[in-house]
Amino acid sequence: MKRREFLTLTASAVTLAGAGGLILPRRAFAEDKKWTIGFSQCTTIEPWRAQFNKDIIAEAAKHPEVNLIITDGEDKTEKQVADVENLITQQVDALLISPKESAGLTGVVLKAIDAKIPVFVLDRNVDTDKYTQFLGGDNKLIGKAAGEYAVEILGGKGKAKGNLVEIWGGLGTQPAHDRHDGFHEFTDQEPGIKNLLDQQSGDWKQDQAYNIMATALRNNEQIDLVYGHNDPMAYGAYLAAKDVGREKDIKFIGIDALPGEGVTWVKNGELTATFLYATPGAEGLRQAIKFLNGEKVEKTIVLPTEKVTKENAEAILKEKGL
Ligand code: FRU
Repeated sequence: MKRREFLTLTASAVTLAGAGGLILPRRAFAEDKKWTIGFSQCTTIEPWRAQFNKDIIAEAAKHPEVNLIITDGEDKTEKQVADVENLITQQVDALLISPKESAGLTGVVLKAIDAKIPVFVLDRNVDTDKYTQFLGGDNKLIGKAAGEYAVEILGGKGKAKGNLVEIWGGLGTQPAHDRHDGFHEFTDQEPGIKNLLDQQSGDWKQDQAYNIMATALRNNEQIDLVYGHNDPMAYGAYLAAKDVGREKDIKFIGIDALPGEGVTWVKNGELTATFLYATPGAEGLRQAIKFLNGEKVEKTIVLPTEKVTKENAEAILKEKGL
């Protein structure tokens, strides 16, 4: 095959399976490829997911031996289960999955494992450890870093004071629970910090967080800090506060630190801080390829985090060419 022709085929070897399913001519252009790797993404409507897909596609482009199929669970457990069933039927060589929630996706992950497909679980976990590898950020650690910072900006250890609004991510996901637990290891030590809400979930979505915050603002004259389990929710809360002219009285902390979102919002002074939650797209694919090539892989890989405040936001953006 001529080189140019080959490169074209390589680029087209990333298949974005449409809503109609996976009946795409995969084999037709994948004949020269050694590995077919399926990636079941839970949704693409959230910016972090879009970046995650971009990262995995960019990595796939560096591996001409790989045919990558990406499915979109459209933020519905049933759709994601069906996607994985399809990938199992297609006998992919490896399955990467970032589950919408733990419980609902565990069965189909076990089914893939039973079918002898190596499974790489990315970012959110499932209720089994029979997979080949889990790869993602340490949400407990990130929660702790956020909690420690919250105590600091509310007056410091032993003296911190303030009314807190926490907006949870999806309750069926481990990251939300870990981000909560880690945070409270610090804030619960402070008698001066009062939790205003009781496990209110914005399901990772900006608009839902806006509504939660709008109600919290109506019910509470004094709010000092918002902890959103991700940046879109922290930003949604900020917008709700801004709409009633109270944004300057409140500090907002989020998680994710996408350059075009969290880091920019910190730079603009809209969020006070965010914590990096790197997407596992590129590394996840590299690990799967490594495994398929017969190398040993670790059971768990933890991606590093970083605190982003006004002090380093601009430098981070410059580094990213923004
Ligand atoms: C995107 C997202 C991120 C968050 C992650 C947690 O769907 O909500 O914003 O950090 O999932 O799993």
